Amino acid sequence: MTIDFQRDILQPVAADFAAMDTFINQGITSKVALVMAVSRHVVEAGGKRMRPIMCLLAAKACDMQNMEHARHLAAIVEMLHTATLVHDDVVDASGLRRGRPTANATWDNQTAVLVGDFLIARTFDLMVNLQDLTLLKTFSSGTCDIAEGEVLQLQWQHRPDATEEIYLQIIHGKTSRLFEMATEGPAILANKPQYRQPLRDYACHFGNAFQIIDDILDYTSDADTLGKNIGDDLMEGKPTLPLIAALNALDKNSEDFKLVEKSIATGGVEHLDKVISIVHQTGALDYCRKRAAEETQAAIDALSVLPDSPYRQGLENLAKMALQRIH
Ligand code: IPE
Ligand code: IPE
Ligand code: MG
Ligand code: MG
Repeated sequence: MTIDFQRDILQPVAADFAAMDTFINQGITSKVALVMAVSRHVVEAGGKRMRPIMCLLAAKACDMQNMEHARHLAAIVEMLHTATLVHDDVVDASGLRRGRPTANATWDNQTAVLVGDFLIARTFDLMVNLQDLTLLKTFSSGTCDIAEGEVLQLQWQHRPDATEEIYLQIIHGKTSRLFEMATEGPAILANKPQYRQPLRDYACHFGNAFQIIDDILDYTSDADTLGKNIGDDLMEGKPTLPLIAALNALDKNSEDFKLVEKSIATGGVEHLDKVISIVHQTGALDYCRKRAAEETQAAIDALSVLPDSPYRQGLENLAKMALQRIH
């Protein structure tokens, strides 16, 4: 069955979603005009809004009574996500995001870093209003983990000896951790501690699948579809799973092995076309697709302890839809 976003995912939380979106816009207030301009630039560009939808579905799946709180939390999650993207585009020297020039390209690195800082601070400013210390602790330590994930990735940049295990550690920090916060948070607010771990497990595996898919698309998609440039990972010499899998499949003495190794070590897109053909020919992309499918299944399995509901089904469909992007 092909998942339809409106019908199979959004519909059960459509009203909450619309209200949440206005909170995001209201949440961005600053007395400094440049902070407003940069924040608006990124937030108004949209994005798939996957994390807030996940948050709202998880809240409903936990039978949360105070959906006003869930809407606020979902908006906070999306603001935090946006902040990490603003920082990430500086680190990755990326020029295109959500179909628009990035903040660093439109203004400069200094402005992007500082406004990213502002957005993170603002999310915590807003979260205090929810008056839940367990939630605050979960989000503050989770945000440390995200920052660590990005730094770990930086440490492994230009290193062809990175393993799948290292890669998983990196993507769990930089991507899956925020997914976990988006779904564990509602269980905390709804006072359903028994659902914290299952929802976190769902998000962990879904996040892993999502990042693996994103890393496949960096070699197979195009800027018009993605809203960001392809080849960015190779440009930055990032040992993502497609390249790790290609190296594992190749003979160490072959020309292709040496080319991939050198591309990671030096970065640059000079050999992008050749590297793309290598990740196809070695079966590296097939391996990535298999791993993404396994992670998606693990995510869905983790939901089985939650009572059956359209909301649990929505979470399942969301994970399935992400996988459709590569099939
Ligand atoms: C981008 O996330 C960062 C990754 C984890 C790959 P999304 O693909 O969810 O970005 P937006 O919010 O839709 O722009
Ligand atoms: C995702 O990392 C960004 C964060 C999770 C902070 P990437 O660098 O792999 O994602 P894109 O390709 O820029 O969206
Ligand atoms: Mg990036
Ligand atoms: Mg990055």
